[in-house]
Amino acid sequence: MQYETLPDGTQIPVLGLGTWGIGGGHVADRSQDAHFVEILQRLIDMGYTHIDTAESYAQGHAEELVGVAIRGTPREEIFITTKVAKEHLGYDDVHRAIDGSLRRLGVDYVDLYLIHWPNPAIPLPETFRALNELTADGRVKRVGVSNFDVPLMQEAMALSDTPIATNQVRYNLLSRENVANGVLAFCQEQGIVLTAYSPLKSDVLTHPTVVEIARAHGATPAQVALKWLIDQPRVITIPKSSDLEHARENMDALRLELTAEETERLNNLQA
Ligand SMILES: NC(=O)c1ccc[n+]([C@@H]2O[C@H](COP(=O)([O-])OP(=O)(O)OC[C@H]3O[C@@H](n4cnc5c(N)ncnc54)[C@H](OP(=O)(O)O)[C@@H]3O)[C@@H](O)[C@H]2O)c1
Repeated sequence: MQYETLPDGTQIPVLGLGTWGIGGGHVADRSQDAHFVEILQRLIDMGYTHIDTAESYAQGHAEELVGVAIRGTPREEIFITTKVAKEHLGYDDVHRAIDGSLRRLGVDYVDLYLIHWPNPAIPLPETFRALNELTADGRVKRVGVSNFDVPLMQEAMALSDTPIATNQVRYNLLSRENVANGVLAFCQEQGIVLTAYSPLKSDVLTHPTVVEIARAHGATPAQVALKWLIDQPRVITIPKSSDLEHARENMDALRLELTAEETERLNNLQA
């Protein structure tokens, strides 16, 4: 595994595991629990020790399955990111939300706690009054944000007692909105990690240039898409896979060496 450095000096794996769809989507689906727990355990053994989840995934059931899967692993070997939903950003709701996540995960702290989406209806100072208490009492080791633009990141940085560790945003070869709006450059300047979600989504895997570069290396389009992301300073990514072969393939992306010319072609890719 390779690591990126968070603002507090902690090392975070550049490749984490997304969990959207594990245990259901917008609603919980318990019909494949044993299968998903086994897969998650095998993925942890494969080296996916950074797991990204959220209270809203499968109505909390994704967190429950992660909780079962990590039970046999020493807590300090797993890096858990979870997220508070935009409906829960009021002071009391944040406290309730973290307690629910900790209970479902079966842990007494999370490594990283993100505001999942901004909510203009709830003042950010109120949210941070609660988040600052959580970092002070140790239920949350670090805080971060998700889907924030630069002005909102600046507001969060001013309100947080601890460094904002990451902004988790959509970023892939064909989704560059967080380059255009300055979020990537701001993260890189400030030493904040940009966590790229949906790294393989849309038509990334079938784009002819991606396919051609993959073929030249005997690699796969997914490996090219992931390596292009993690080659960038301060960028990590969290592909979701509950398919052992895909997950292995994604992990092997770390070994791919893109040439400067290939990286340039990928930088200039047109959808
Ligand atoms: N903060 C936010 O608002 C937000 C929003 C969206 C997502 N996220 C997080 O980011 C994670 C990743 O994003 P995502 O799930 O939207 O998209 P993604 O990881 O880009 O794509 C997941 C899809 O790609 C497939 N896949 C994975 N590896 C593959 C491979 N090597 N070859 C072919 N297909 C492959 C998966 O199927 P298999 O399982 O069959 O491999 C799954 O269908 C989520 O799971 C979630 O944790 C956060």
